[in-house]
Amino acid sequence: HVLVVDFGAQYAQLIARRVREAKVYSEIVPHTMPVAQIAAKSPDAIILSGGPQSVNADGAPQVDPALFELGVPVFGICYGFQAMAAALGGEVARTGQSEYGRTPTVVDAGGVLLDDLPRSFSSWMSHGDSVTRAPEGFVTLAHTATTPIAAFEDVDRKLAGVQWHPEVLHSEHGRQILAQFLYDVAGLTPDWTPANIVEESIAAIRAQVGDKQVLCALSGGVDSAVAATLVHRAIGDQLTCAFVDHGLLRKGEREQVKKDFVEITGIKLVVADAEEQFLAALSGVTDPETKRKIIGREFIRVFEQTVRDIADEADIEFLVQGTLYPDVVESGGGEGAANIKSHHNVGGLPDDLQFTLIEPLRALFKDEVRAVGEELGLPHDMVWRQPFPGPGLGIRIIGEVTRERLDLLRDADAIAREELAKSGLEKEVWQFPVVLLADVRSVGVQGDGRTYGHPIVLRPVTSEDAMTADWSRLPYDLLEKISTRITNEVAEVNRVVVDVTSKPPGTIEWE
Ligand code: XMP
Repeated sequence: HVLVVDFGAQYAQLIARRVREAKVYSEIVPHTMPVAQIAAKSPDAIILSGGPQSVNADGAPQVDPALFELGVPVFGICYGFQAMAAALGGEVARTGQSEYGRTPTVVDAGGVLLDDLPRSFSSWMSHGDSVTRAPEGFVTLAHTATTPIAAFEDVDRKLAGVQWHPEVLHSEHGRQILAQFLYDVAGLTPDWTPANIVEESIAAIRAQVGDKQVLCALSGGVDSAVAATLVHRAIGDQLTCAFVDHGLLRKGEREQVKKDFVEITGIKLVVADAEEQFLAALSGVTDPETKRKIIGREFIRVFEQTVRDIADEADIEFLVQGTLYPDVVESGGGEGAANIKSHHNVGGLPDDLQFTLIEPLRALFKDEVRAVGEELGLPHDMVWRQPFPGPGLGIRIIGEVTRERLDLLRDADAIAREELAKSGLEKEVWQFPVVLLADVRSVGVQGDGRTYGHPIVLRPVTSEDAMTADWSRLPYDLLEKISTRITNEVAEVNRVVVDVTSKPPGTIEWE
């Protein structure tokens, strides 16, 4: 496997995904991890990511030269390229020649890294400093108009680096360059495939569970469906699934889950009706993180109760969660990343939690989960369903969550979903939150009179993995249809607005 050392830019996850797209397993580690600890993970290769700082700035993260003594192949990208040069005795300086965006790049000597590439192509750059002298033993492979050393390698030590970002799509041949590092410089084998992931997960689940009983929370989403199916494959009838109706679901969702899941997989399913309990717990609460914590807490409590109700309590020892790798990284995951949001499937568990967690998707990105779902033979519709947050509509009502507001939002959301499906553009949209600004009032004129109602926000986004996102350019006709229907059919709503913010700086959800 490959370790991606994160120097704090947005790019580490993207690099990790690209490596996996090249069928090599990768994990992200913080740049603060000591070399001994990195060595203990026995990586087959290391990639140093980009980062926002200048290598020469006070307190800027450095690479411990001992890293290069491990005999492990290392690839430096942008900041990682410069940090590598500095650590090995080369020179990095502010030349006054910055490059941002698409940059014509010329290959001098292909070497192993840039073998088989065209002599010139366009690469995506973002740097103020440059490598002004390569370390001893390195051959310079490419240059640009202002950067004489834009790529280098030392074939004997299996070290290489590039100034640009091969992981971003705007860099031509980026995938090929990463692949050539992985296969040709580092000598790795592409064996991270859905079939292998399934096989390894099943073996790991069997080893963890033994002959114990397992409970799984189905949410209706792709992640829990795939997690449950994996566990079911591994241990069969030792698995019972439970579905919590927390009252924060979309219209018709509960019926859908029952129908789809039980009919398709034959898994044992229990439905817990907990709407009252959740609404009572959420009463008067407006702070998003508090909502998440409460929903997470109640969720676990309902599970505990469900366990008592359905089984001999002592028997159930494990709880399956559909936690994904980006949740782990964003929530800190023990790897030192900032806590951006306490996603309820990672944080917020009560201290008296009685279950040991099984998280079969903890190492996977969303696209990998879908590939695994397909590999497991789940229906296409289920595998490609849009993601929906665990706290459901609870974090799509800005303000207090009440049943009346939920009903209102459910109606608006159903209209948006229905019209999107009719338009045939579902595949273009990663996710389509519909948000009720319950604490905001807007004036309208509907029928004969002035109304004082609430705005609804449409937030359709395109994304590859929810880490970054862009607002969807939905056709005006479709937006108009949705707007007209919502304002006509949903009482209290007299305004529909479209969110045109990318992520960053926004997030996909409003809370
Ligand atoms: P943001 O809003 O951070 O969302 O851009 C990224 C992705 O995560 C989903 N999301 C959540 N999922 N519990 C979840 O299970 C949560 O608390 C939560 N908050 C956001 C969001 O829908 C998007 O897919």
